[in-house]
Amino acid sequence: MITHLQRRTAKLLLVAGAALALGACSNFPSRQPPIWVFPDMKKQDKYKAQMSSPFFSDGRASRRPVDGTVAQEWYNADEAYATGVAAGNTYVAKNPLPLTKETLAQGQAKFNVYCAPCHDRTGSGRGVVPSKAVWVPGNLHDERIVNFVDGELYHVISMGRRTMPGYRFQITDKDRWAIVAYVRALQRSWRGTMSDVPADMQSKVR
Ligand code: HEC
Repeated sequence: MITHLQRRTAKLLLVAGAALALGACSNFPSRQPPIWVFPDMKKQDKYKAQMSSPFFSDGRASRRPVDGTVAQEWYNADEAYATGVAAGNTYVAKNPLPLTKETLAQGQAKFNVYCAPCHDRTGSGRGVVPSKAVWVPGNLHDERIVNFVDGELYHVISMGRRTMPGYRFQITDKDRWAIVAYVRALQRSWRGTMSDVPADMQSKVR
């Protein structure tokens, strides 16, 4: 016969068991490490990045890539397009992108994001960043820079020059060429004269 006490003990055991079972899958954050009944493969000998190892002669656990390795997404068989420098170490003379409204719109959007903070939206070099700095960005309307071929402009954007950092990691090849096209448009607009305005509209320009 089951006594009252036995029934009570059984109930208590049931509650305790359920609490234990549910507690095991509870997600409460805890500072204690979990109890590992079966460690599975949670702990194992392994090397992490930058660790040393006596196994290799150079003492590094990580192997270096084979010399000349290029990450797939960075590889471009067309070196002139990718670098702005053509065979024979001369700058690419002409922008390889078609000069369309889309190209210019894309170039304008990217110029205003990546260049305007320093060079300002007109390219004169009075952006908000240099107003707080000791260096001065070049004026993109300087005769010297206007006379750059397209490839040189592209190369400056990609690799930087003197105090200007390069932007090849932030801006894609295509967008950099689009910026080149837009800088050309800015330079052209800076040098506009009355003779660029159609004759029938000249009277409207003051
Ligand atoms: C962080 C500020 C900064 C940004 C952003 C920046 N530049 Fe410059 N840029 C400079 C400075 C500073 C110089 C002057 C470098 C020198 O002569 O020391 C310069 C110079 C240049 C020159 C002239 C290089 C020469 O031979 O004198 C060109 C062209 C140019 N920048 C284009 C761009 C374009 C296009 C972008 C946008 C992709 C851009 N820059 C973004 C700071 C910047």
